[in-house]
Amino acid sequence: MSRKFNIAIDGPSGAGKSTIARITADMLGIIYVDTGAIYRSVGLYVLRKGIDSKDRESIIAVLPEIKIEIAHDESGSQRMILNGDDVSAEIRLPAVSIYASDVSAIPEVRSFLLELQRGFAREQSTVMDGRDIGTVVLPDADLKIFLTASPEKRAMRRYLELRGKGIDTTYEDVLKDVQYRDKNDSERAVAPLRPAEDSVIIDTTEYGLEESIAMVYDLIRERMRED
Ligand code: DC
Repeated sequence: MSRKFNIAIDGPSGAGKSTIARITADMLGIIYVDTGAIYRSVGLYVLRKGIDSKDRESIIAVLPEIKIEIAHDESGSQRMILNGDDVSAEIRLPAVSIYASDVSAIPEVRSFLLELQRGFAREQSTVMDGRDIGTVVLPDADLKIFLTASPEKRAMRRYLELRGKGIDTTYEDVLKDVQYRDKNDSERAVAPLRPAEDSVIIDTTEYGLEESIAMVYDLIRERMRED
């Protein structure tokens, strides 16, 4: 790749964004930035503090105490460092998902994290995934992809993933969690989840992971060739 290239991948939870983004970034030899993990780290901090996830004033008040860094281990996986602690495993707990979704609806939290996210894309080529990357964080991204799938399919994928990690949950609970977050993430006033006008929409309901990765990878290569 000759010049810097930023790819934005947005979509609802469980659409396969992070797996697809991580693997395609790896295939391209560029870095992957999981912005959901950044919101999850803020959610975890608020949860640990014993603050209610809807208590906006208290959440805004603790933002200056939060320092978030992203590191990469030897296999290239993103590690989230919250005030010096590696919280990469803990941020995946279902309770943290709800907190992440709630804190992400607060405009001050979003602006607190905006520059951090933009900084990564300024310095290097990235595949960045989230909810508002194509619309707000990187409006000039070279390629914007909106990945989606039916809520039931997304819940089933997430359920299997959580079970695989040994997290005890049921499909019904995961579906409820997916529906809660879809509503929260799409209906919030700031940076709601929606496809950017110039995004390519991919519905993965009927596709397996390999096919979805191939579709995304081909799109990226095609866009790079046009350049
Ligand atoms: O992608 P994820 O499930 O790890 O994201 C956790 C929450 O963070 C999700 O419910 C919405 C929020 N989020 C956001 O508002 N904007 C982003 N760019 C990424 C995530």
